[in-house]
Amino acid sequence: MSKPIEGFSKLSKDEKIEWIARNYTHNPEDTKEILKTYWHSDSQLQKLHDEFIENTISNFFMPLGIAPNFLINNKLYAIPMVIEESSVVAAASKAAKFWQERGGFRAEVLGTEKIGQVHFIYHGDAKRLEEFVSKIKPILLTDVNDITRNMEKRGGGVTHISLRDKRNELENYFQLHCTFETMDAMGANFINSCLEQFAKTLTREAKSYSEFTDEEKKIEVVMSILSNYVPECLVRAEVSCPVAELNGDESVAPEEMARKFLQAVTIAKVEPYRAVTHNKGIMNGIDAVVLATGNDFRAVEAGVHAYAARDGSYRSLTDASIEDGVFKFWMEIPLALGTVGGLTRLHPLVDLALKILQQPSARELMQIAAVAGLAQNFAAMRSLVTTGIQQGHMKMHLLNILNQMGASDDEKRTLVNFFKKNTATHGAIVEALEKLRKA
Ligand code: MEV
Repeated sequence: MSKPIEGFSKLSKDEKIEWIARNYTHNPEDTKEILKTYWHSDSQLQKLHDEFIENTISNFFMPLGIAPNFLINNKLYAIPMVIEESSVVAAASKAAKFWQERGGFRAEVLGTEKIGQVHFIYHGDAKRLEEFVSKIKPILLTDVNDITRNMEKRGGGVTHISLRDKRNELENYFQLHCTFETMDAMGANFINSCLEQFAKTLTREAKSYSEFTDEEKKIEVVMSILSNYVPECLVRAEVSCPVAELNGDESVAPEEMARKFLQAVTIAKVEPYRAVTHNKGIMNGIDAVVLATGNDFRAVEAGVHAYAARDGSYRSLTDASIEDGVFKFWMEIPLALGTVGGLTRLHPLVDLALKILQQPSARELMQIAAVAGLAQNFAAMRSLVTTGIQQGHMKMHLLNILNQMGASDDEKRTLVNFFKKNTATHGAIVEALEKLRKA
């Protein structure tokens, strides 16, 4: 059993590695070698990565793939995706090609409002508080001038501050509910800096009003923080085509495929167990773009799932209809993304991903990510209601299994060919490799 350590962050990188290898692994020399194998040979570049977080000991590789042929609002994109799941990029590419031949995706940003709150406790008269907050609103705004100046030059800033009485939910609980426009930035630092200043101003100004100086009634700020729930930072993505054109490479007739597709979406609308997996499939596409473009996937995930449960039940984020022989499939989803600030220009691969996407604005990136999610869900649903997902999934997973078994390049080539015509299961792959080796 290892002992706790004081001052780990102050150790050098080599010392940290030595400590972790000796105290938490059975073969320290192997551990050290693995960690160092993943260091970048360019020491400057390695230093950049080391400094992204604290206590860095190595780099963690994830595949960066490209899903080409995404026609979005008549513009063709090749979408960079960072993801470890074998079938995701293949499924996105397949869906992109399918819809590119049927007019492509349409996407539209419905809103870009971001939200932050100063949460505070106040025991006094709510009417007096209301008067006070409306009186100090100009001061709240002036006090953040230094923070907002640049954002305002770009067309953004604080858009609204309102007092919210939350005493129905929690005794004596109030908020300053604030909205922001952050243009091409995700804006977390901007919003949090404004909110912390609002909290200071609120506390300071309260001191000069006699009704708030009374110890019993004083305003006590609990915390100031942005919200990752952004229901008004919304993007819509859509595809449609005549039902008869829904013919793919499955043996199922387009009418049947459309009908079952619609049933599957409806099931995900009413059944939370299915809805969670359905939406997970959407996030396969979205997270991969969010990661490739250096955005905060945890924020996106939290906000998206809260939105999926906005009426009290967790539901599918996508919708489908068949009207007058036309199949339509769409989704509205909250995505707070940025194309400036944060890691976006600092991480060389993120910078490159944004170049590949032709330097999108944040609004454009919202559209691209939403489309990647819709495409992913389309691909999954199409497989689920026709062949099932395992056929495609196992084909893509085949290389992982072969690599795990130490297959050579020749063996991999032979077996990939073999499984083009045969069903790939874990057992069948192991058996086929053994057979090949014996032969
Ligand atoms: C797997 O990562 C995602 C799916 O399960 C999504 C779905 O079931 O819709 C295929």
